[in-house]
Amino acid sequence: MTLLIKGGTIVTHEETFKADILCKDNKIVEIGAISVLPKNVETIDATGKLIMPGGIDPHTHMQLPFMGTVAKDDFASGTVAALAGGTTTIIDFVIPNPQQSLLDAYHQWRGWAKKAHSNYSFHVAITWWDDTVAEEMKILVKDHGVNSFKHFMAYKNAIMATDDILVASFTKCLELGAIPTVHAENGELVYHLQNKLMAEGMTGPEAHPLSRPSSVEGEAANRAISIANTLGAPIYLVHVSTEEAVDAIRYAKDHGQTVFGEVLAGHLTVDESVYQNPDWATAAAHVMSPPFRPKHHQDALWKGVQGGTLQTTATDHCAFCAEQKAMGKDNFTQIPNGTAGVEERMMVLWEKGVNEGKITMNEFVALTSTNTAKIFNMYPNKGCIRVGADADLVIWNPAATKTISAKTHHSKIEHSIFEGMEIHGVPETTICNGKIAWHDNVLIAESGNGKYIDRPAYAPFYEALRKRKELNQPKAVAR
Ligand code: URP
Ligand code: ZN
Ligand code: ZN
Ligand code: ZN
Repeated sequence: MTLLIKGGTIVTHEETFKADILCKDNKIVEIGAISVLPKNVETIDATGKLIMPGGIDPHTHMQLPFMGTVAKDDFASGTVAALAGGTTTIIDFVIPNPQQSLLDAYHQWRGWAKKAHSNYSFHVAITWWDDTVAEEMKILVKDHGVNSFKHFMAYKNAIMATDDILVASFTKCLELGAIPTVHAENGELVYHLQNKLMAEGMTGPEAHPLSRPSSVEGEAANRAISIANTLGAPIYLVHVSTEEAVDAIRYAKDHGQTVFGEVLAGHLTVDESVYQNPDWATAAAHVMSPPFRPKHHQDALWKGVQGGTLQTTATDHCAFCAEQKAMGKDNFTQIPNGTAGVEERMMVLWEKGVNEGKITMNEFVALTSTNTAKIFNMYPNKGCIRVGADADLVIWNPAATKTISAKTHHSKIEHSIFEGMEIHGVPETTICNGKIAWHDNVLIAESGNGKYIDRPAYAPFYEALRKRKELNQPKAVAR
């Protein structure tokens, strides 16, 4: 399989230049003015188009069993949506039930993901603790290409990780060269506020943001960062949605800590007024955690993106349909938490970031692909356009326009949080593993074409971390 992309402009996280790209099998084999061609080449004319590394969404939940139901988009429909939006790799989450073996859960998720159209990898959540969990973390890192572990500081009485678990697990991550990640919300406070609001008769979706105010996220972000700092561990905060959390990350980075922050396309562009919608189903469709926030938080998030405090963009794609949301008709705490977005992430970032002059095209590439590849140790196979890299690419038409709508998206749910947003510049062709996977609104990839991506331990940032640890090693006083 040989594919030539001719006449386009390559945009990487560092530079923009005109060149052809030749892909053979699943690799980029030549970049430049290519005139001597091997036989049987399929050619794509990319004149006037931009060619960028395929998007990587580091936060999705396909087919997630959660809050008494299962997310509607599975690894088949969810990855069709990903490819339609220029994303070629997702990092999803294995979430073991408390007391479930991590390895059993991991293999369960690997089985579900066999039908993926795009590439995929897995973070594994730590929802409980004992010696067997520590042992299985080691096996996952050494034998299964897992280098990141997730901790939910919220969802009390379900999957919440308390401080003792955070300390034990972060310590283990450090020993293994893995990166701990956190959903930073104080689960005790959320639980307390949920009960209080329900007792006061606040049962609708408008109570959801009231049960998770920004201070709840700020407290947990500061706590997780402090725990990591004390242990000398790196830390990655998923779906940062508040000014408080951005400030916490910035402060820690300014003080030499290895901290990373992720922001969702939704939190950057949707505000909390959605919960006031008089239509229950519309308000409930926006219930996700952390919730959408007042506008000044969005300003802080954009500044965090521009200033380098937040390095990655994700979606937390966890799609529940209206019928599923209705499980919480009389009790907002039972509305399954989650919204869709894996298809729209790059378009939204392009429209609200690049087109509004907040970020450059090169920064767009860094934020949608390269930084994630680096942090989670997939670079330079992923997130980059160079000879030897994987041929995961998106051909972007900066002149094309599109209006986002649930009527045309590829998620199975009937609602889009980005409904009606006009996009100027859209992904036209998605190439995954050297093959055209999506072109002009037509799916070409087949279910099962997606590959599992192994992510080795000790991402490059660990080098500095280990050196610091070595230099700061305490020494007993010889007496
Ligand atoms: O509301 C959300 N985000 N649902 C998925 C689980 C999580 O917290 O990431
Ligand atoms: Zn195994
Ligand atoms: Zn979360
Ligand atoms: Zn999530």
